[in-house]
Amino acid sequence: MVMIKADGLTKRFGNATAVDHLSFQVQKGEVFGLLGPNGAGKTTTVRMLCCLISKTEGNASVGGFDISEKEDVMKIRKMIGIVHDNVGLYESLSAYENLEFFGRMYEFPELKLHENIEKYMKMLDLWERKDAPVASFSKGMKQKVAVVRALVHEPEILFMDEPTANLDPEASKVIRDTILDLKKENRTIFLNTHNLDEAQRICDRIGVLNTRMIAVDTPENLEAAIGGRRTTFVLEELNSRIMDAVRARMPREVHALDNTLSVEMSDPDKETPEIVNAIVGAGGKIKSVKETSASLEEVYLKLVKE
Ligand SMILES: Nc1ncnc2c1ncn2[C@@H]1O[C@H](COP(=O)(O)OP(=O)(O)OP(=O)(O)O)[C@@H](O)[C@H]1O
Ligand SMILES: [Mg+2]
Repeated sequence: MVMIKADGLTKRFGNATAVDHLSFQVQKGEVFGLLGPNGAGKTTTVRMLCCLISKTEGNASVGGFDISEKEDVMKIRKMIGIVHDNVGLYESLSAYENLEFFGRMYEFPELKLHENIEKYMKMLDLWERKDAPVASFSKGMKQKVAVVRALVHEPEILFMDEPTANLDPEASKVIRDTILDLKKENRTIFLNTHNLDEAQRICDRIGVLNTRMIAVDTPENLEAAIGGRRTTFVLEELNSRIMDAVRARMPREVHALDNTLSVEMSDPDKETPEIVNAIVGAGGKIKSVKETSASLEEVYLKLVKE
């Protein structure tokens, strides 16, 4: 079941195009990550999908409702939770009062709301400070309150714009685990992130965005298709004779750093032994050989640069 669907979704601010003809679908129960450099249009995309700003062109639906239909907007708002890129809490209210205030905007049973506030505040280690004004909170604590706020009305679809920015590793892990728990409940999560490691760990699929959508696939497929596989050879010593011998065998990309050679492979089973022969034939001594696939980071940098 498709929960989020964009079809040529576009946003222009004056003459500048922030988001250019995005088309993608997110299935129910999926964790979909949007990855892209600063200014790529991640926040703009989420704001359009959450009906906070209007689109310029194209279509999108959330939970089957059209983001540009007036009657649908309220329905979308009710079924989503949002962690904004800026926390936007009332500084003079306590954390608990903030959560109560925002939670009551949804037609959600009061008792359940209080139960959820307590559950998630405890989970994120905020409960002891529940009555303190948010103004006295650290950045990361405010961020955690913003995450709790997005969860307390048990939304079907969760939009999270860099939810772990400002968080320490432990708190980040709690958020990631929470996302995975929500996924188990078949909730749909749309996550903007800069954190490649995070995207790789929790996203079922990743969209690489740079104003336009450059690629959408599982982390594994992105690595395999775009990064390709490579073999790393650690030598006792690397010289130009060895380099020439390797390049003669392997017209593709060969990276050399200190005594390490990294070679892109299309068929490592066949090519790795060939390179070993070339190195040995040129008088090189091999200390180790290791096959790796490109990391998501390499894939990302390559995609975004192109
Ligand atoms: N209200 C606005 N008015 C004019 N331009 C805007 C507005 N909001 C965003 N932009 C522009 O749209 C582009 C995309 O911005 P956006 O905030 O969506 O990027 P992002 O991918 O979320 O970046 P970051 O990783 O820094 O959060 C940027 O060039 C930005 O300057
Ligand atoms: Mg942003």
